[in-house]
Amino acid sequence: MRREGVICGLVAVLAIGVGAVSVAPMTAFAQAPLALEGSAAPAPWARYRNWNQTSWDGYNALNRRDRTPPAGREVVVRTVTGDAARGRALAFDRTRGGGCMVCHVMGPGTPPSPGNVGVDLTEIGTAGRTDQWLYNYIFDPRVYNPESVMPPWGKHSFFDDREIRDMVAFLKTLKTPMR
Ligand code: HEC
Repeated sequence: MRREGVICGLVAVLAIGVGAVSVAPMTAFAQAPLALEGSAAPAPWARYRNWNQTSWDGYNALNRRDRTPPAGREVVVRTVTGDAARGRALAFDRTRGGGCMVCHVMGPGTPPSPGNVGVDLTEIGTAGRTDQWLYNYIFDPRVYNPESVMPPWGKHSFFDDREIRDMVAFLKTLKTPMR
């Protein structure tokens, strides 16, 4: 008798509990969408149009560290005249290897979430750098800093002479503090 009573009580408690639990969530939340079709592997180019799909075979990787061309001599350039607007577009172009924003802040027009590995170039136009310095820093920073982590864009033929000159012209316009 006593045992039956306990079991009846338990069933009653369970019934009340299940009733309470089953009603509350269905009225409070919509069903979360769950997509099961297709691959779960990350494929960012499928999600982000214009994702860089260049072959990186000519670049260093963890298993091949010897592909970067050896540093050469400082390139001699006279006063650089270039298309600053084109240089700005190149510097900000995330489809060309990530652009300079990966490491640098470049003035008030810098898009959100830039990197901070490199120095803030917001006022590089007032820093008294020569055109030759700026050109070589983009062409191959190793002529000034053998330990630089900045890629040797020119040495890698990633940007050509014209493009580097345009970016130098852009850097020279950077004079306005962020705030
Ligand atoms: C992987 C990070 C990284 C990227 C990408 C990068 N830089 Fe740099 N850059 C640096 C670092 C770090 C320095 C500081 C000096 C050094 O380590 O050589 C630097 C220094 C410089 C300097 C010299 C600043 C001075 O005080 O004279 C210039 C100019 C420059 N970068 C321009 C660029 C441009 C233009 C781009 C894009 C085409 C670029 N950087 C992309 C990391 C980067």
